[in-house]
Amino acid sequence: MSNVLELAPVASTLAVPAHVAIIMDGNGRWARRRGLPRIRGHRAGADRLRDIVKACPGLGVKYLTVFAFSTENWKRRPEEVDALMELFRRYIRSEANELMNEGVRVSFIGEREGLDPKVVEQMEWLEDKTKDGREFLLTVAINYGGRREIVRAAKKAAELAIGGRISVDGLTEEVFSNLVHTSSIPDPDLVIRTSGEARISNFLLWQCAYTEFEFVETLWPDYTPEEFAASLSRFAMRERRFGAASN
Ligand code: FPP
Repeated sequence: MSNVLELAPVASTLAVPAHVAIIMDGNGRWARRRGLPRIRGHRAGADRLRDIVKACPGLGVKYLTVFAFSTENWKRRPEEVDALMELFRRYIRSEANELMNEGVRVSFIGEREGLDPKVVEQMEWLEDKTKDGREFLLTVAINYGGRREIVRAAKKAAELAIGGRISVDGLTEEVFSNLVHTSSIPDPDLVIRTSGEARISNFLLWQCAYTEFEFVETLWPDYTPEEFAASLSRFAMRERRFGAASN
C-alpha cells in the first residue's frame, strides 16, 4: 500500500479518471492454479477489492463500479452461487464500519428481484448506513446485465410516453441516461478487465460509449493497488477525443 501513496502525486498531476469500472475476472483460475476450490479465489478477490477501494481516494478516483455478479452468473453451479451470495453478505457485514468511517457511500445496481431477500436486506442496510459518505462512491453490480438494464429503461420510457409525461421526440440521450441504474453518476472514464479476457460481457453497455478500456493479464486476486495505479497512469497518457478530430 505504501507504494500507492508514492505513486499518487504522479497520477494526480495527469488526467485522473473520475469514474473507473472494473470487471474482476480470474478468481476461478487463481484458485485452480493453487489446487483450491473456486470460492477461495472469490474470497481472495474480495480482499483485493478492499485494497483497491482503499487506494481510490488517494489516487483521485471519485467513483468505482465493480461487476460482482452478472445475470449470466446464475448458470454457475448452485454451490458456487450460494457461496458467492454468502460472501457478499459477509463482506457487507465486515466492511460496513470501515466504509462508513472512510466516507465511502455504497450503492448496488442490478435487479433485486431474483436475489435472496436476505442478501437484498443486507444490501439495503449498507446503502442506508453509508448514505452520508461524501468521499467516494462504490457501486457494486449484482444480478446486473447491461442489455436488461437498457430494456428496462426503454420500458420506463414507453410508460412515460404512454402516460403523456414525455413526448416521443422528448426521449433524448440525456433523458434515457436518467432511466438507467447509474443515473446519478457520470459515465465511466476507464473500464479495467483483469485475467487477459478482452470482452465487455454485458457490463455497462449504455454507459461505455466513450469509455477507454484497459485489459490486463493479471488475475483479479493478484491485481494490486500498485498495478491499479499503473493502469491509471497509462490512462493519463491517452488522448480522449469523444469523436472529435485531434487538431
Ligand atoms: C469472475 O471470476 C468473478 C466473479 C464472477 C465474482 C466476482 C466477485 C468477487 C471479486 C468477490 C468480491 C466481491 C464483493 C462485492 C464482495 P471467475 O470466477 O469467472 O474466474 P475464472 O474466469 O478464472 O473462472
